[in-house]
Amino acid sequence: MDSKPYTFDIKLPGGIPDHYDNHIERRLSSMRGQFLDQKAYSERLAREDTLLYEVYEFKRPEIAGELLHGISIVHPGKVGNEYYMTKGHFHTVLETAEVYYCLQGQGYMVMETPEGEWSVEPLRPGSVLYVPPRWAHRSVNTALDGDLVTFFIYPGDAGHDYGTIESQGYRKLVMDTPAGASIVDNPRWKS
Ligand code: 6PG
Ligand code: NI
Repeated sequence: MDSKPYTFDIKLPGGIPDHYDNHIERRLSSMRGQFLDQKAYSERLAREDTLLYEVYEFKRPEIAGELLHGISIVHPGKVGNEYYMTKGHFHTVLETAEVYYCLQGQGYMVMETPEGEWSVEPLRPGSVLYVPPRWAHRSVNTALDGDLVTFFIYPGDAGHDYGTIESQGYRKLVMDTPAGASIVDNPRWKS
């Protein structure tokens, strides 16, 4: 792989970089079991496999010393009363961190550790979020009228453990309530 320095521009509004190596689209069908309202999920999926979020990646070798980076765009919408969100994951190498810089929109990063700590941090344009080692992370778009756009950067050897979240969920959910976007306990969380 070419190891020369490079520069890219992120056009706002929108967030799509002027070049990238990989474009990932994540749809409703890849989020089975994650949204609280399973009936709303099944009914929607029967109608359409909605595009929930997209990632534009720059490919780097997946080794220690490299930094993987790209743009994550979570589209606006809800399944039942729960906002669109990413699958979320632990890093396979648990002792690896990540930095997010919010470029556009509004939302939250929902995080937790295997030891049972949890944290939900707001994301606004200009927010820099540090996700320490050991913290699973999921971004949630709470604006129903626009995308949540973040730039992320994490160690090349981190890897992704999606399975733990797929089987147990997150301890906390972000729901649209009469009081606005609210952080609630996940009644379906499994230890
Ligand atoms: C990573 C980052 C980030 C993340 C996207 C999509 O470690 O790769 O956390 O790039 O992948 O925001 O979220 P999911 O990977 O959870 O689908
Ligand atoms: Ni990550």
